Amino acid sequence: MVYDSYTGTVEKCAKLLAEKLGNVDLVNISKQKLPNLQDYDCVVIGSYVHAGHVSKKIRKFTTQNLEALKNKKLGIYLCMLSEQFDRYLNSNFDKDFLNMVKVKDFFGGELNYQRMNFLYRFILKNIEKNTKPRLGVRVEKIDEFARNLLI
Ligand SMILES: Cc1cc2nc3c(=O)[nH]c(=O)nc-3n(C[C@H](O)[C@H](O)[C@H](O)COP(=O)(O)O)c2cc1C
Repeated sequence: MVYDSYTGTVEKCAKLLAEKLGNVDLVNISKQKLPNLQDYDCVVIGSYVHAGHVSKKIRKFTTQNLEALKNKKLGIYLCMLSEQFDRYLNSNFDKDFLNMVKVKDFFGGELNYQRMNFLYRFILKNIEKNTKPRLGVRVEKIDEFARNLLI
């Protein structure tokens, strides 16, 4: 599982999903070295959404490893506050890559203000006040994702 997480939600979801899947290596793309993809037949990719964009490192991982990811079982999940999952997915990833992915979903989002810098905290507090998004990780979606990936 290759993921990037700014305030910890994507990482929390990676751990919850790994518990369901078993026998998973977790790789935080900002902190750890990527293993050799040849050693894996299933790859799950996880990212946050910031201002409509997924993590640059995650996007780059998908474009640079397109060939290596072919013929593997692939899953992708996003953590975000919006419900517009398809819109974010299609505007961030190439069609060629998305066509290869077996399971795609979003797991909801959190606002972990204590882990944000001052500017982000200020912006997100305003967004929360004005849009009152649904907060929290949607554990039932993680269960469903794991089930669909294991089929
Ligand atoms: C700077 C910033 C920008 C964000 N922009 C969006 C956005 O455009 N759309 C959205 O649905 N959620 C947005 N969010 C909410 C995050 O996607 C959500 O907090 C998610 O849980 C973050 O995952 P992480 O804790 O792993 O970083 C934003 C959060 C931050 C801090």
